[in-house]
Amino acid sequence: MMKLAIIGGTGLDQLDSLEILKSKRIETIWGAPSSPLTFGRWKGIELVFLARHGVEHNIAPHKINYRANIQALKDTGVDRIISVAAVGGIRADMKPGQLVIPDQIVDYSHSRVTTFYEGDEVLHIDFTEPYTASLREALLESAREGKLSVIDGGTYACTQGPRLETAAEIRKLKNDGCDLVGMTGMPEAALAREAGLDYAACAVVANWGAGLVEGEITMVEIERNLELGMTSLKELLSVLSARLE
Ligand code: HPA
Repeated sequence: MMKLAIIGGTGLDQLDSLEILKSKRIETIWGAPSSPLTFGRWKGIELVFLARHGVEHNIAPHKINYRANIQALKDTGVDRIISVAAVGGIRADMKPGQLVIPDQIVDYSHSRVTTFYEGDEVLHIDFTEPYTASLREALLESAREGKLSVIDGGTYACTQGPRLETAAEIRKLKNDGCDLVGMTGMPEAALAREAGLDYAACAVVANWGAGLVEGEITMVEIERNLELGMTSLKELLSVLSARLE
């Protein structure tokens, strides 16, 4: 049977109602992952949960040890990962609270360790389609089955953070063809591909991208919208779990 992991982002630092079987602190050859791995049963299926920003939510996007996170999941036998990520919406239909299953990525992050290939080996992985089609499809079918509003496709811009963007940066991202913006999608997706793991993302829109509506972006607004979005997300994951049984 395939083993599923969920990497929870902002707004999903823990998966409540997860029946915890064990929690394990592990080390990898790249160091420690962001959080202990929680092995649990949720809606009938066994899964592994990892909090991307740490259980206390104290690891900023640029400080995450992405390699340790992916390696830890691989070492424990995981073969597919669903990444949950809070994003800013750029495209008009990607409004706060909306769930999106992106299909493309543009990486604007920098100064991050982006590969497992550290030695003499030169390897160029194919990354034409950065997300695993079958896992995206499983999420989309689950949304249809659960009658949940989920947008199929969108280009995810990964910025460096931790600050949010300027209005001009959001205009530029829009011109570049990006539909949503977050800070943690890369190098996570590329490392999962290098590790040979299936990987798909479910983005939860937390706010409009900077400058798209009047005023500043506040954490209060982000948290309120995330709460809304995470409720739908948990429903989506429930349906998905039942399908994977
Ligand atoms: N920009 C980048 N990352 C984000 C945003 C945003 O507006 N909202 C949530 N994560």
